[in-house]
Amino acid sequence: MKDSTEKIITDARDAVSLMSAQKGRKLTYHVTTFGCQMNARDSEKLSGVLEECGFMPEEDEQTADFVIFNTCTVRDNADQRFFGHLGSICAVKKKRPDMIIGVCGCLAQEDKAREKIMTSYPQVDLVFGTHNIFDFPALVLKVLSREVTTGKGHIISEVWDDTDMIVEDIPVKRNYKFKSGVNIMFGCNNFCSYCIVPYVRGRERSRPWQDILQEIRHLSDDGVIEVMLLGQNVNSYGRGLDDGISFAALLRKVAKVEGVKRIRFMTSHPKDLSDELIEVMASTDKICRHIHLPLQSGSTRILNAMNRHYTKEQYIDLALSIRERIPDIAITTDLIIGFPGETDEDVDDTIDVIKKVAFDGAFTFIYSKRTGTPAASMPDQVPEDKVKYNFDRVLSVVQDMSRERAALIEGQVKEVLVEGINRQDSSLVTGRLSNNMSVHFPGDASLIGKIVPVKLTKSMGFYYIGERGDRKNG
Ligand code: SAH
Ligand code: SF4
Ligand code: F3S
Repeated sequence: MKDSTEKIITDARDAVSLMSAQKGRKLTYHVTTFGCQMNARDSEKLSGVLEECGFMPEEDEQTADFVIFNTCTVRDNADQRFFGHLGSICAVKKKRPDMIIGVCGCLAQEDKAREKIMTSYPQVDLVFGTHNIFDFPALVLKVLSREVTTGKGHIISEVWDDTDMIVEDIPVKRNYKFKSGVNIMFGCNNFCSYCIVPYVRGRERSRPWQDILQEIRHLSDDGVIEVMLLGQNVNSYGRGLDDGISFAALLRKVAKVEGVKRIRFMTSHPKDLSDELIEVMASTDKICRHIHLPLQSGSTRILNAMNRHYTKEQYIDLALSIRERIPDIAITTDLIIGFPGETDEDVDDTIDVIKKVAFDGAFTFIYSKRTGTPAASMPDQVPEDKVKYNFDRVLSVVQDMSRERAALIEGQVKEVLVEGINRQDSSLVTGRLSNNMSVHFPGDASLIGKIVPVKLTKSMGFYYIGERGDRKNG
C-alpha cells in the first residue's frame, strides 16, 4: 500500500474505534453487489478497505452500520433491483439514523440516475463512480469524520468523468480463498449500440502485464489456485501498452505462474479473437475448457446495427473452428432479443446459429433501452408481446441445446474444483468442472478449494449430480 493510503486508513481506523467505543460494540459493514464479475471484484476491494478500517462483516444488509451498494446499470431491471434495495434501506435508516449508506458503481456513474439518488434519497451519505474506487479509503474517512464531528447526513459525491489512471495495491478481501478475479483491463471502446458500459466504465485501459503477474504471484502465494482474468473485451488486451503484448501472450505468462492450476477469462469479443488465442488454449492444460463468446444476435443485419463487427457466418466459422481445435471446450454466449427493428426472421437466424454452434449455455436477455446509447433513438422499437414470443422461442432452443451438450459427458470422471457446501443440502458439496458446469456430490468442508475427480453420474441439463471417482473413464 502507498504511504498516503496507509495514513488515511490509520485515521479511518481511529475514527471507527472512537465510534465503536461510543456504541460499546464493533461496527459492521455490508456490501451488496449487482452486475458482472468486474463489480464482484470491485466489491472485494470495498470490503478490503472497510475491514482495514476496522469494520466487521455483517451478513444482513438491514442491520449493518455501513451499507454500500455496488451498482449495475446494464439493463433496466438491474436499476429497478437496486432502487428496491435502496428504498428499503433508507426506510431502515429513518429508524437508525447513524447508519451510513454508500452507493457506487456503474449506475452511480450515470448522470440521471445519480441525480435521482441525490434528490430522492437524502439518507444516502456517499456516492461515487467507477473511476475513483481506489479513492475509497479517503471517501470513507470523509464520511466518518463527518459522522464523528456533526452526526448529520449530507451526501458526499465524488464522481469523476473518466480516468486514465490505474492504481495498484488497495486492500482486498477475497470472497473465496482458493479463487480470484484479476482485472487485466478496465473500460470498453467498442460502443455496441445498445450498451451503456463504455459510458459508465470509460475508455479501455490495459494493465501492464508485470503488475498482473505480480498480483497473480501474490494470490498464488496466498492459496489461490484458480484465476479469472477480467475485462470487457480481453481479446484486445495490450492495445495501448508500449510492449505490444497480446492476450494470448499474457495467458502464456500466467500459465507459468507456479501454484496456478486453472485459468479462466471473461469476456471474449468475437471480432478480436485471434488464432494465437485458440492455439494457446488448445496447448495449455491450465486454461479451462470454456469460452464465453457473446453472439448477441445471429442476424447479420442486426449485428451490423449493433455495431458488433462480425457477420452470422463469421461467428459460426469461428465457433466451429474453436470446437474443432479444442474438442472438449464448452462455448457459452449472451443473446439479446428485441433489439430495435428485429423481425421474426432475424430471430430465426439467431436460432439457426444456436443450433449450428450448439451452445453449452446462454444468457438470454430482453433488449433494454439505455438512455444515451445510439440504439435508444433507433426507430422500430419492438413491441413487448413480439419480444416475449421470440424470447420464449430462443430460450427453448437454448435449453434443448445445453441439455444435449451436458448429456454428452454424463458418466465420465472429470476434475472438479470444490467451491463450497451445497446451499440446499449440506451433505453435498458444489464444484465446477474445467468447462464451467457445476456438479453437486457427497462431501464435506474439507474438500473446499481442492481439485478432485468426480464421476458425473447424472446430467440435470444445467448441472450434474456426481460422486467421488478416481478413474478417468466412466
Ligand atoms: N463486454 C461483454 C458484455 C458485457 S455486458 C461483451 O461484449 O461480450 C453483458 C451482456 O449484457 C452483453 O453481452 C449483452 O448481451 C447484455 N446487454 C448489454 N446491454 C444490454 C441492453 N441494453 N439490453 C439487453 N442486454 C444487454
Ligand atoms: Fe458493451 Fe459491447 Fe463493450 Fe461488451 S464490448 S461492454 S457489449 S460495448
Ligand atoms: Fe453492469 Fe457495470 Fe458490469 S453496468 S454488467 S456492473 S460493467
